[in-house]
Amino acid sequence: MDVKEFIDQRVEEIKTIVGPEMAISALSGGVDSSACTVLAHWAIKDNMKVIFIDDGLMRKSEPQEVQKVFADLGITVEIIDAQDEFFMALKGKIDPEEKRKAFRNAFYTVFKKAVLDSGARFLIQGTIAADIIETKGGVKTQHNILDQIGISAEDQYGYKLVEPLRDLFKHQVREVAKELGLPEAIHQRMPFPGPGLATRVVGEVTPERVEVVRKATVIVEEEIIGLKPFQAFAVLLSDKGTGIDEGKRLFGDIIIVRSVESRDALTAEPTPIPWETLMTISRRITAELPNVVRVAYEITPKPPATIEYI
Ligand code: XMP
Repeated sequence: MDVKEFIDQRVEEIKTIVGPEMAISALSGGVDSSACTVLAHWAIKDNMKVIFIDDGLMRKSEPQEVQKVFADLGITVEIIDAQDEFFMALKGKIDPEEKRKAFRNAFYTVFKKAVLDSGARFLIQGTIAADIIETKGGVKTQHNILDQIGISAEDQYGYKLVEPLRDLFKHQVREVAKELGLPEAIHQRMPFPGPGLATRVVGEVTPERVEVVRKATVIVEEEIIGLKPFQAFAVLLSDKGTGIDEGKRLFGDIIIVRSVESRDALTAEPTPIPWETLMTISRRITAELPNVVRVAYEITPKPPATIEYI
């Protein structure tokens, strides 16, 4: 792929599709939506608003960090606080696909309001090829793929979707992001799923349970980041295990540490992590999160496991 040619073509395409209308770009801060937002900014900067939905499922300080990166590029990002809507939609849901569908519906409902309130007719989003392949292949419902085949986004939601990266795989998106001038922190950023930490909380997704995973994720990222894995994160299981807290029995939480190597996320291998690093992670998680009594490192490739837990 000739990256410069790809960018020129997509910029022209976005200009033609959106024309003089208004569009909203859906930014999550991941490499896909970031590249997509900058592409769209190059194409239609004056007719575009960039929106970041704070769904309460982001990593620590993510909304503010993303806003800062884009401010440095001269792009204003509006953060919409929709945490209550997402936690309401996920309340009581245990089944992974039900959780994914609840997330997706909340995502489109919040965006529908944002798009229609601002008089926009287009939603620009960073869907990539793997999202489409996995949803159509029946692996799992990606938050950004509509499953009612034959019903367009316009009929369902009242706006048209623009997806300039839908033919690319992750490594190609990284090249495009670099060429677009995004900083390394973004173009080499670990993939983070649309439904955020909800994919790493097995069982009910509540603000309290998300906070446990968020804190454990900070530790995993801090300790493993030097190994430059494709993706590394923590998962909170719904099962519990017996442990000891100040001499007393505690039936507490179990955290799984997952780190994988991959090129396109369609297959993956566990990262061979040095034992000392694993022990540091285990000690830090149990010390910094007193209700966690067990930490395990996952050693399953994809397939048969998927990368995320739901
Ligand atoms: P799985 O868990 O299916 O993940 O092996 C493959 C890659 O996709 C990411 N992922 C998602 N990305 N929306 C996204 O934008 C989603 O719903 C979603 N689910 C998984 C995951 O982090 C991995 O990189």
